[in-house]
Amino acid sequence: MANLTKEHLDFFSTLGIKMHTGLEERKSYGHDETEDFVFPPDLVLIPTKTEEIASIMRYCNEHAIPVTPAGARTGLSGGCLPIHGGILVSMEKFNSILHIDTDNLQVTTEPGVITEVLQQAVKEKGLFYPPDPASKGSCFIGGNVSENSGGPKAVKYGVTKDYVLNLEVVLPTGEIIWTGANVLKNATGYNLTQLMVGSEGTLGIITKIVLRLLPHPTYDVLFLVPFFNAGSACAAVPDIFKAGIIPSGMEFMEREALLWAKSFTGDETVPVKDSHEAHLLIELDGFDEEQLMQEAEKLFGVLEAFETDEILFADSAAQKAALWNLRRKVGEAVKTQSVYKEEDTVVPRYQLPNLLSHVKQVGERYGFKSVCYGHAGDGNLHVNIIRGSLTDAQWEHELPLAISDIFQEVVRLGGTLSGEHGIGYVQRPYMPIAFPEVTLTLMRNIKKVFDPKGILNPGKIF
Ligand code: LAC
Ligand code: ZN
Repeated sequence: MANLTKEHLDFFSTLGIKMHTGLEERKSYGHDETEDFVFPPDLVLIPTKTEEIASIMRYCNEHAIPVTPAGARTGLSGGCLPIHGGILVSMEKFNSILHIDTDNLQVTTEPGVITEVLQQAVKEKGLFYPPDPASKGSCFIGGNVSENSGGPKAVKYGVTKDYVLNLEVVLPTGEIIWTGANVLKNATGYNLTQLMVGSEGTLGIITKIVLRLLPHPTYDVLFLVPFFNAGSACAAVPDIFKAGIIPSGMEFMEREALLWAKSFTGDETVPVKDSHEAHLLIELDGFDEEQLMQEAEKLFGVLEAFETDEILFADSAAQKAALWNLRRKVGEAVKTQSVYKEEDTVVPRYQLPNLLSHVKQVGERYGFKSVCYGHAGDGNLHVNIIRGSLTDAQWEHELPLAISDIFQEVVRLGGTLSGEHGIGYVQRPYMPIAFPEVTLTLMRNIKKVFDPKGILNPGKIF
């Protein structure tokens, strides 16, 4: 693929789009939250209109210049890293919520709106957009669509894909399409909307998003449950569902995940005893306070069968916010403790205890420590492999074998490589563990139909 020449730069200058050519800016747009990768693009473009993106794509397609779309760059699989250089198209100026449709319970938004800003805007009208990744205060809704983000509420309300109705997309050739219709049911041809969701910016650049919304629940309760045994915390999870309870949050934190979040946030109010191996953070929500209390009683009944310590009941909005803050900060807290690698494993939830014990066995075999946490109700375990005192040779050559081992077990248990962070740049080598060649070829061929010259976000997924 072409490197940028003076002639290319001259062309982009004529478009009147804000751009950065300086190395410092290019470096800062060339990383996300994935490990410590930095891939400076040759040029950063910050368009404000769909037609501008179409012009960029048409030119880049003609001249075989790589284009990588980027949102808030909070991703954890390197989906927006411009690994082949070329143009980085930042979607930060596409930051308007275009229409909140209170008759149909839908919102039309641009992709560069911060997810929490969108949630607050619809909440003011009594409406609910549930998917809430840990980075909701900084990530963009467009990035959430591109990576099919989840978060704690997914266990009851589903992930981003469950809300996307329709998308405006600029194709790699520069054509502009809508993928579907603004309807709740749609049996009209191939589902291009859902093909775009989770395609990690490899098939087109999303410029408008139509999401369905729900009425916002009016009550919620939150409990932090300490377990003396981490496997037992995982084992309690399916029993809660079997009892007929669907929590709106069901988060697992190994001992160190919570301890590190406490020291990272400076919030030391939650007691963690030496005997606590793990915690479940369980939220119930609804529209009827009395019904919620009955459900909570039922939940305590289920938990009685497990060895738990005293359950912490968050009884004020401030305490709930503090507990959720601890949970959301685990990822950042791990980052400050050590060099690490994160695997976003997901298995059917009943298999969670088996997954956890396998991760620990692999750790013992390869000599690494791991800290696990995540969305237990979805069987989605974030496995953080801590570098500690591993040598360069162990980290670079042996660790990929250990990760392969974990993924093979994940697949054997009926799961797959990523629940919500995507494949992006860092998980590519492991795709053959999840799919046979015939399936990978199908996927590669789909990519070719959209992007015959392979210019859009090259080097991702496969
Ligand atoms: C979380 C992010 C890392 O669950 O997915 O905190
Ligand atoms: Zn997560």
